[in-house]
Amino acid sequence: MKGKINETTQNNPFLPELARIISTHYLTKDVKFFQVRFSDMEKALSFRYEPGQFAMVSVLGAGEAPFCLSSSPSRPGLLEFCIQKKGTLTNALFRLRENDLVGVRGPYGNGFPMGDMEGKDVLIVMGGLGVAPLRSVLLYCLDNRDLFNRVILLHGARTPSDMIFRDEFMALKERVDLECFLTVDEDDTGTWKENIGVVTTLFPKLKKIDPSQAYGLVCGPPVMYKFVIKEFIQLNIPKNQILMTLERRMKCGVGKCGHCAIDYIYTCLDGPVFTYWDVIHMRELI
Ligand SMILES: Cc1cc2nc3c(=O)[nH]c(=O)nc-3n(C[C@H](O)[C@H](O)[C@H](O)COP(=O)(O)OP(=O)(O)OC[C@H]3O[C@@H](n4cnc5c(N)ncnc54)[C@H](O)[C@@H]3O)c2cc1C
Ligand code: FES
Repeated sequence: MKGKINETTQNNPFLPELARIISTHYLTKDVKFFQVRFSDMEKALSFRYEPGQFAMVSVLGAGEAPFCLSSSPSRPGLLEFCIQKKGTLTNALFRLRENDLVGVRGPYGNGFPMGDMEGKDVLIVMGGLGVAPLRSVLLYCLDNRDLFNRVILLHGARTPSDMIFRDEFMALKERVDLECFLTVDEDDTGTWKENIGVVTTLFPKLKKIDPSQAYGLVCGPPVMYKFVIKEFIQLNIPKNQILMTLERRMKCGVGKCGHCAIDYIYTCLDGPVFTYWDVIHMRELI
């Protein structure tokens, strides 16, 4: 699964395109949603990407960093990001308002193999900021519902207030073509009616899965991977059908600087999506 470098950035891979913030709001106390559109309308409509790919987002004078595309390519025109406040760049991004400009270059990375998943069950397990890339997969599956068999979502957060896109997922629970289970470690509202417990406590609620016909996708805080992968293995999902996105420090995003290299793997090109099969052969990956 090699990453594809967008044609327009191929000549000068470091040149961002200007994009305007169309809307922005807080999703949790330290995570903000950004909806942006390239200023060049032709670029906005022709920009193609796969769920799981990322873009480099920049603010003049503050720097640039990689962020997953949280929107679905099935909804062209607008790009969506879900960004946690961390340091210099993200603080600058949080100060921006609607109509302000950012730089965007990409898309980069390999993305999820959506074509291979067609006709199969897609079991998506997300926690914390892992929502960012997996929301794109989920929306893509729902927008192309006929292409996939069962679509199952297990989403965990520390508390209801920490659940990114909580209202969106609560609304999705009403869909009959999505099996959606939400959980929190603890309820800080006193009004939470869904499951309480870590995300793996949701697995016993699943109807029987035919593992050979299922893909298991996981993204979340590092501690989650080990336990969720154990559940996938217990369900007998083949190792090459267990997929995860992994983060590494990145600078260029296009395989030039070596910041993201592990042995012969450049996570910006060969990732950020890896199979469990890749991971057990590259022990440093998780
Ligand atoms: C492929 C990829 C996709 C990403 N997608 C998202 C996303 O959708 N949403 C999101 O909020 N963030 C995402 N990130 C992480 C994001 O790029 C960093 O949080 C960002 O660089 C922070 O920039 P900053 O200037 O605000 O913070 P800095 O000032 O650079 O750093 C602040 C703190 O965060 C730590 N840090 C910075 N980058 C990383 C990293 N990659 N891994 C671990 N610690 C780090 C630093 O050590 C420091 O302690 C992604 C990273 C990668 C590699
Ligand atoms: S980020 Fe520069 S080589 Fe991957």
